[in-house]
Amino acid sequence: MTKSDLRKQFFVFISMASILIASLILLKFIEDPVKSYYSAFFTSVSQDQVDVAIALLYNFFRIVNIVLWLILVITFVRFINALLFETLLRKTSSYEISALVRNIFTIIICLVAFFVILQTQYEGAYEKLAPIFTGSAIIGVVIGLALQDTLGNLFAGLAMQADQPFQIGDVVAIEGKGSGVIENISWRGMKIRTFQNKLLIISNSVLGKEAIEVAPRDNLNARLVFFNTLYANSPAKTAQVIREVVRQVENVSPKMRPIVRVRNLGDNGIDWEIKYWIEDYSKFNDTDALVRQRIWYAFQREKIEFAYPTRTLHIETKMQENAFVETTNEIFERLSNVPIFAPLSDEETRQLAESSSNRVFAPGELIVRQGQQGKSMFVIHRGSVFVQIKEEGATKNIRKLHEGDFFGEMGLFTGEPRSATVVVEDETEVLEISNLCLKPILERNPELVQSFSQLIDERRAFLETLNTENNDDVEKINKAGVFDSIKKFFGLGD
Ligand code: CMP
Repeated sequence: MTKSDLRKQFFVFISMASILIASLILLKFIEDPVKSYYSAFFTSVSQDQVDVAIALLYNFFRIVNIVLWLILVITFVRFINALLFETLLRKTSSYEISALVRNIFTIIICLVAFFVILQTQYEGAYEKLAPIFTGSAIIGVVIGLALQDTLGNLFAGLAMQADQPFQIGDVVAIEGKGSGVIENISWRGMKIRTFQNKLLIISNSVLGKEAIEVAPRDNLNARLVFFNTLYANSPAKTAQVIREVVRQVENVSPKMRPIVRVRNLGDNGIDWEIKYWIEDYSKFNDTDALVRQRIWYAFQREKIEFAYPTRTLHIETKMQENAFVETTNEIFERLSNVPIFAPLSDEETRQLAESSSNRVFAPGELIVRQGQQGKSMFVIHRGSVFVQIKEEGATKNIRKLHEGDFFGEMGLFTGEPRSATVVVEDETEVLEISNLCLKPILERNPELVQSFSQLIDERRAFLETLNTENNDDVEKINKAGVFDSIKKFFGLGD
């Protein structure tokens, strides 16, 4: 409940209470005059009729009194409920389950208030009514039978309340019934929103008998995902690649390192198990799917292969080749169309094409991370990326690069940490060019060094206009001069 809601509740309570108290006081004032006027009016009729009429009048005032007092009590209880359960307990873990306690609290207070008010208006009423509630075996049996299920649910609900094994927002799986996110817990039962967005309603008495698996909302719950690789691939490399890729998946907790282990040396290859912890467990289906997708992309890049039955091996390999392995000619075409490589001869461009590696990244993956060291630059062959910087803790897109654009040259040529993060927008294929293959080409083409340094100057100047967290690096390089930095880094002469 927000502050303004609470204020509203308080206002309603104060107005209701004032009206009721005023009515009660008014009633006190008019009660006696009306009674005496009424008695005087009936003096002409027989004493018996007067008695009956007066008794009726008295009862009328008593009933009005009882009703007003009861409304006052209910208003008060509602206000206390709002204050206690929705405001003070809101931040505690017992908040959601308190719906049950709250209902019981309201019923008890109202019942007690009813008897007290009745007693003040009709002296001895309690003694007369109490045996009805306590003594009558028949009523007891009738009520007991009628409320059998309801009471069963109530007591099962109370037992669970004492235990507090789950709360709203937890993901639960109930054997034979289904699984989903708890949406509501009441004295009757539990409402679960299933992963197909349906509502599953289970009574407390049924819940009390079932085994329930709970993934608490405020807990780091783990997931397991399985896959197989060929025996030809190194397990150490596979484990490292997977660990790195899983850590980057959205909703995977950075607090716990994912565990990647060999489960079995199976018939088709090495059986793997990945265990990772997720922050919002209600999204585990999406997270698992994203983990599998990222593994696929990482395997494509690192040339790791999934294990599959031998008869499909040949067909699958061809598909992969068609999809991702570009011929040197295509890469040559791409690099020839990149303006910065215009000064290169065809032979040099072909040399660059042959030594570059083709890598595919999934949407959301980082190709370059701000602050890390880098020994290569990238040309976008297909897709698009965002250049991002951290500004006061928040991530900001400063540029979008498309096919034919390149990035990573600043870190590569100056030897400084990466000035920005580059994250994939759509599935993107990049050509990675390492410093080793660029060096001989730069040595032969001083004008290329010049164009790169001009471009780096421009990008640096733009970064400087922003309030980035790597301004120190920018300063350092500006003083040294980008052109000299590049030459120094490659050990080139004047
Ligand atoms: P590098 O510093 O190696 O890694 C991050 C890359 O982002 C950087 O190289 C540039 O290629 C790119 N980058 C940084 N600033 C800009 C900018 N202002 N415009 C375009 N690209 C940039």
